[in-house]
Amino acid sequence: MIDFRPASPEDEALIARLDALCFPVDAPPVFAGARWQIGWDGAAPACYCAWKPVEHDGVAVGFHYRGGVLPGWRGRGLQRPMLRLREAEMRAQGLTLAVTYTDADGAASMRNLIAEGYRPYAPTPTTTLSGLGRLGRVGFVHWEKRL
Ligand SMILES: CC(C)(COP(=O)(O)OP(=O)(O)OC[C@H]1O[C@@H](n2cnc3c(N)ncnc32)[C@H](O)[C@@H]1OP(=O)(O)O)[C@@H](O)C(=O)NCCC(=O)NCCS
Repeated sequence: MIDFRPASPEDEALIARLDALCFPVDAPPVFAGARWQIGWDGAAPACYCAWKPVEHDGVAVGFHYRGGVLPGWRGRGLQRPMLRLREAEMRAQGLTLAVTYTDADGAASMRNLIAEGYRPYAPTPTTTLSGLGRLGRVGFVHWEKRL
């Protein structure tokens, strides 16, 4: 049984460690400005996630900013409740669209996103999440879901 609890500012170093295990080749995430949750298996952190509001074409949308399941806890379907948890927070903030992006070979994430009702969209300069420099490059898939 995984117990999800909002992360506090003191959890920043822990989140950085979890993130380095899940995204070993990515730049570290920015803790400030995102809402973080940690899923606890007793005293052990099993997974973590974050979202933040961003503007797309002048409209606030909810961006699934980061999410990871530690290797020992994968295969138990933990990413899907983390998507639903963040969607509930987005809805509570009045947001009507959830967005995210994955690596083009992120099969597990893509399967989970599709199962939760996400569909791909083609990013534009005003709706890209992966940065203008990456726009039009293969390698990322952008996803959206009406909340
Ligand atoms: C992506 C991640 C969060 C998924 O963890 P999880 O919730 O435990 O996912 P699961 O292992 O249960 O896999 C989900 C689905 O993908 C499938 N899957 C897992 N690995 C796969 C692979 N290599 N190829 C194809 N399908 C795969 C599973 O069979 C499952 O499919 P199903 O629901 O149709 O049975 C986890 O692997 C992770 O943290 N990875 C590193 C960080 C990362 O990529 N985060 C997401 C960024 S968008």
